[in-house]
Amino acid sequence: MDIIGRNRRLEELDRRYLWHPFTQMKEWEEGVPVIISEGRGSFLKDVYGRWYLDGVSSLWVNVHGHRKQEIDDAVKAQLDRISHSTLLGLGNEPAVELAERLIGIVPAGLSRVFYSDNGSTAVEVALKMSYQYWIHRGVKGRDKFVCLNNAYHGDTLGAVSVGGIDLFHEAFRPLLFETFRAPSPYCYRCELGLVFPGCGLACLERLDAILREHAHEIAAVIIEPMVQGAGGMIVSPPGYLGGVRRLTREYGVLFIADEVAVGFGRTGRMFACEHEDVAPDILCLSKGITGGYLPLAATVTTEEVYSAFLGEYRELKTFFHGHSYSGNPLACAAAIASIGLFEEEKTVEGVREKEKILKEWLESVSGLDHVGDARGLGLMAGVELVRDRDDRKPYPLEERIGFKVCLRARDKGLLIRPLGDVVVIMPPLSIEREHLAGMLDIIRDSIEEVTGG
Ligand SMILES: Cc1ncc(COP(=O)(O)O)c(C=O)c1O
Repeated sequence: MDIIGRNRRLEELDRRYLWHPFTQMKEWEEGVPVIISEGRGSFLKDVYGRWYLDGVSSLWVNVHGHRKQEIDDAVKAQLDRISHSTLLGLGNEPAVELAERLIGIVPAGLSRVFYSDNGSTAVEVALKMSYQYWIHRGVKGRDKFVCLNNAYHGDTLGAVSVGGIDLFHEAFRPLLFETFRAPSPYCYRCELGLVFPGCGLACLERLDAILREHAHEIAAVIIEPMVQGAGGMIVSPPGYLGGVRRLTREYGVLFIADEVAVGFGRTGRMFACEHEDVAPDILCLSKGITGGYLPLAATVTTEEVYSAFLGEYRELKTFFHGHSYSGNPLACAAAIASIGLFEEEKTVEGVREKEKILKEWLESVSGLDHVGDARGLGLMAGVELVRDRDDRKPYPLEERIGFKVCLRARDKGLLIRPLGDVVVIMPPLSIEREHLAGMLDIIRDSIEEVTGG
């Protein structure tokens, strides 16, 4: 079979057998799928040999680029030893070494690593751990969580319970546990109708009110530090993160920082909590942990939380949670190599340099007729398109304006995915300046062409 015939067959098989995540398959079946065969640096190649810039870092995971020699070598070397053995009742070399490396870089006070294999499970672990922490401490009735509107913590049911994006989460409401929801720190569309900084962070006062009344029922507050990612790249105003930490301490509830998206350099700090000098009780990590190579997650906590689970077996304080691939050696080997690269290549400093280019560009597109808000931190940004800038009216859902902009960008060689009407900018952290500039040009042109201004 010639190459075209083979590719057509792959496309047909994709349409016939696959069910893609977050995808309306009726529409997918009518289109032609892009099928990736290779990657290098910030680029992906499809089966026809067309190269695209990977503008979403393969769903926010890629850090040092594709086919990074040091990570390739680390995974290959590990393949020659063993690909997988369980962490239930056994240790494995890369998992142990990685735990030490992680504790060396996470915020102070975090000292124990519990592995799983994706962002949602990192969050599930954090929820169950914090709930059971109180039980083991002999404190009754702490079975609720506080989360934020517009929050996204993954797609498993616990993670969806603490989610706050109605489009994704509402359909599952009858299956979910109840939570207290505090306002999203979304200044462009402030739920309280206020304007920063004059508001004096009134959204924190709402959180304060929930905690004042209900702290005795609350196990933990969970947030995405600094940027609510899937909610639309919502950057929290200065003082918000530190304020949440202060309130959780004041009312004696645990603080879970979900850094699945913002961790590992994405916001210009190794961990977003560093922006406001915050140390959580529980930190959720995944995505960039392996440099974007393999599925791995870590839920990192304090000795205080960990020690509550210690006891005689018959006391049943064991944390009964684990996954077949928890602490997979190949993934841990990739993660160790990735952390090494952060040091060798000064990746985080590089992000801060490139952030200047992105910030300047965000400023410049803010003037376009249909850009309501252009916001970002580090190398993660969103451009919110609106039908009317004056009254901030969104486009009707059926117009799918964000989707159309991304399709147009694809024709120009850039792969990006929207979040509703927010065009997301999430290149690999290692992206070269000229490629970042090229990516931003394409996005600007695509926005102008699709919105007509
Ligand atoms: C903040 C946050 N938490 C959790 C998750 C879930 O991660 P995963 O898709 O690996 O389950 C995501 C995914 O985008 C995320 O952005």
